Amino acid sequence: MARNVVVTGGGTGIGRTVARRFAAAGERVVIVGRRREVLVRAAAELGPGVTPLVCDLADPDAVEAALETLPARIDVLVNNAGSRETAMGPGPHALLARWRGDFERNVMTAVLLTESVRDRLTPGEGRVVTVSSIAALRGAGSYGAAKAALHAWNHFLAAQLGPSGITANIVAPGTVAGTEFFGPRLDEAEVSRRAGRTLLGRIGDPDDVAAAVYFLASPEAGYITGEILNCNGGELLGR
Ligand SMILES: NC(=O)c1ccc[n+]([C@@H]2O[C@H](COP(=O)([O-])OP(=O)(O)OC[C@H]3O[C@@H](n4cnc5c(N)ncnc54)[C@H](OP(=O)(O)O)[C@@H]3O)[C@@H](O)[C@H]2O)c1
Repeated sequence: MARNVVVTGGGTGIGRTVARRFAAAGERVVIVGRRREVLVRAAAELGPGVTPLVCDLADPDAVEAALETLPARIDVLVNNAGSRETAMGPGPHALLARWRGDFERNVMTAVLLTESVRDRLTPGEGRVVTVSSIAALRGAGSYGAAKAALHAWNHFLAAQLGPSGITANIVAPGTVAGTEFFGPRLDEAEVSRRAGRTLLGRIGDPDDVAAAVYFLASPEAGYITGEILNCNGGELLGR
């Protein structure tokens, strides 16, 4: 039977590739994001099993409203939505806005949705996979701190869902090209600099991360929970 899969941030980058992978396997996929036109375009490209759902996942009212549209049974929830604010003005107000913003964009987007659909996760088979970052383990200021918070939360979540036979795991990617995340900052020189920090001599692409997410969401991964799967070409270990 086809599974019901929800992929946040499924309109672009890693999320779209994750959604493509599930759709290709015949699963029903809901992709969630804030920009309607981006989601509609992605859903049209990914095929009839993919449905767009517009929702700002950092807004509790929007999440509550989305519950009407989300499936009554969710087999796989992929918390992939997130972003990083790079521009910052001077002073403590700007600092506070940045830290709060990164927390809202990367932590609350996952927490609000997961807690809201917790009762819809399929007992015995449900899978929650959350995308954090290598930044959670090697700094990167407010963004890294926010992604690290996902790790602590995931451990708590895995303990809570475990008795129902539902797993909760993290995929922590290194640098991934082909997404909107870096924008023009990821130029040729930066790609080469970052590739040189990995053991494989290349940065990642969305398919690398989608494969890790897909594995943790598979029925075969049912005895893996509370884990962090690093997907960074060996960058964390370093040369
Ligand atoms: N690319 C990398 O090198 C890299 C490395 C490590 C981790 N990551 C993580 O991987 C995940 C995917 O990033 P990506 O690289 O694929 O970048 P991306 O193309 O910018 O994807 C982020 C997606 O999240 C959605 N999103 C952001 N805020 C949202 C909100 N409040 N509500 C709903 N949707 C929201 C965006 O859509 P809308 O703007 O339309 O809402 C977008 O589709 C992120 O969590 C990122 O932190 C990326």
